[in-house]
Amino acid sequence: MHTRVLRVDPVIPEPAVLAEAASVLRRGGLVAFPTETVYGLGANASDPDAVARIFRAKGRPAGNPLIVHVAAKDQAQELTSEWPEAADRLSARFWPGPLTLVLLRNPRVPDIVTAGGATVALRVPAHPVALALLRTVHTPLAAPSANRSSHLSPTRPEHVRRSLDGRIDLLLDAGSTTGGVESTVLDVSTSPPRLLRPGLISPAQIEAVVGPIQRLASPAGGALRSPGLLARHYAPTAPLECVNVDAAARVEALCRTGMRVGWLTFTGAELAHLPELRRIMMPSDVTAYAAEMYAALHSLDEAGVERIIVTMPPDTEEWLAVRDRLRRASSGPI
Ligand code: TXA
Ligand code: MG
Repeated sequence: MHTRVLRVDPVIPEPAVLAEAASVLRRGGLVAFPTETVYGLGANASDPDAVARIFRAKGRPAGNPLIVHVAAKDQAQELTSEWPEAADRLSARFWPGPLTLVLLRNPRVPDIVTAGGATVALRVPAHPVALALLRTVHTPLAAPSANRSSHLSPTRPEHVRRSLDGRIDLLLDAGSTTGGVESTVLDVSTSPPRLLRPGLISPAQIEAVVGPIQRLASPAGGALRSPGLLARHYAPTAPLECVNVDAAARVEALCRTGMRVGWLTFTGAELAHLPELRRIMMPSDVTAYAAEMYAALHSLDEAGVERIIVTMPPDTEEWLAVRDRLRRASSGPI
């Protein structure tokens, strides 16, 4: 059976739609909804059977814990056993928004949510639909990105449908998400706090609020404390190569072999004469790039290319999260 889809206004969500979604969630169902980063796949976080359905629908390994979405700080505090000052300052500054805080959990959080670990990941999303849904349902929502495990994250409702149609109960269609890259994950159960996944909130923004943090050893590396740091992740079907220097030469060589190639690039005219090549011109502005990145990769997948070449953006901190996701989407060594 196909998944039911309800359109919802992204700015002023209709109360009747929210009430319907809340009732599906209260019955233990799965609802995909937009956040300001990517679409999430939500279930009632206090219902272990509902959360188990998320793992089944995604094919997600049980060892990978979920982010719990809450309506406000006080709801977050109910799920933790310790609320350090760093959490206070960061939540005051960045919530609602794309910052996930990892904290020592309260025993009432079901084991399945945290994969049995001592910590829970929490955030208050900024998207009006996500926030209004949380306020309507009155329960925290466990919500990973709404895609099959290790596939590309969804930034549009059609991405969710393509990945999960028939496996979830309801999709709230609010059009494209604006952020495009998943939230920054920061462990504040340790001192100093430690960056587990780069995202839309940069290390510099965080350090301006709480002072120095432990950063990743390398953009995609660092100790594997967060399963989201596993190398290959967020990947398209076609093998993807990140190229720092002279991507055009690599693209041309592959095209010569007769391969159907997709290319994420920045410049206009290069290799325009190659008919089998699908070029996608990406913005040079990082915010715009992040917003379009997953949609670009989804479109190449849909076009059935056999290889994706990505001209890498510069190795600067502003591009940290985008470069991290591109690297993880690549099949090559990291
Ligand atoms: O922007 C986002 O964060 C989106 C939207 C839907 O909110 N969600 C998202 O969820 O990206 P997911 O499950 O695809 O990624 C969650 C990341 C994973 O890398 C997971 O391992 C990590 O957060 N994580 C969750 N709980 C954790 C915990 N207790 N300790 C360390 N890492 C945790
Ligand atoms: Mg994900």
